[in-house]
Amino acid sequence: MKTRDRLRIAVQKSGRLSDASQQLLAQCGLKFRQSRDKLFCFGETHPVDLLLVRDDDIPGLISEGVCDLGFVGRNVLEELRLEQVALTGSSVLQELRALGYGGCRLSIATPQDELFEGAQSLSGRRIATSYPRLLARYLASEGVTAQIVVLSGSVEIAPRLGSADVICDLVSSGATLVANQLKESVKILDSEAVLAASTTEFLDARQPMLDLLLRRLDGVMAVRETRLLLMRAKRSALDSVRSSLPRHSTTTVMAVQGEDDQLALQTVVSGTFGWAELEAIQLAGATQLLVLPVERMLA
Ligand code: PRP
Ligand code: ZN
Repeated sequence: MKTRDRLRIAVQKSGRLSDASQQLLAQCGLKFRQSRDKLFCFGETHPVDLLLVRDDDIPGLISEGVCDLGFVGRNVLEELRLEQVALTGSSVLQELRALGYGGCRLSIATPQDELFEGAQSLSGRRIATSYPRLLARYLASEGVTAQIVVLSGSVEIAPRLGSADVICDLVSSGATLVANQLKESVKILDSEAVLAASTTEFLDARQPMLDLLLRRLDGVMAVRETRLLLMRAKRSALDSVRSSLPRHSTTTVMAVQGEDDQLALQTVVSGTFGWAELEAIQLAGATQLLVLPVERMLA
């Protein structure tokens, strides 16, 4: 295998994942200079460059070794992975991390005025999709035989044009389906942005760079929903306050100088932590509650 000393990452040039992907790289401390043709961005802080491409091309660029990594929807990655497995018996593509943004699902949608009674309703019908392998896998798992009509875009209008009866496409807000008098009938894949890579190991400078990137990505994702919670409590209320805190949180309890009956508490909370959770802690006896965002975390 050719050795290279810079990692090359493929990201979507424009579309639903492009802003969030570039933002995530910036949060990892990576800065890029954009070239004039806007297809290649040179990494100024690290040996990492970006290639801005169409999302559908990303898994192919990784399997061909043109790019080492890619930020892409799981739906796009899985489709090519299945195709490679079907053609050669194996695939070099793998999902290294789920990135927590760009959430959507690949679903089968049927006309609004039609009764849908499970997978059997699809038997013998024409299903338009850009994801024939994922759809075929679902149909096979349900033991249903249907005709797959492969379209590269505008799948949602196929039923109206008469080229298909139902569709299998990405649904995010659901607005596209509503606008086309379709309803989401069965979800076949949960998708979100993922970090895709080849299973081939790097034997050069790219490996330590990948390790660094993964550590920072994990750190960024860990703090995304993390808050630092500060509060006061009377000694007598300590047990009750403690039991009101989210489970799995490690709490530091400190004495307050000059105020013998007072304690200061500090804990890190993650996941959904809103007004209701805060009020419950106050009700348990905590005062002077303060919720702060966490910027970086290194375990
Ligand atoms: C998907 C899909 C629908 C739309 C659904 O296309 O093909 O057209 O998003 O989103 P909604 O439920 O919020 O209306 P996408 O924008 O990903 O474009 P692409 O398939 O051409 O990459
Ligand atoms: Zn696309």
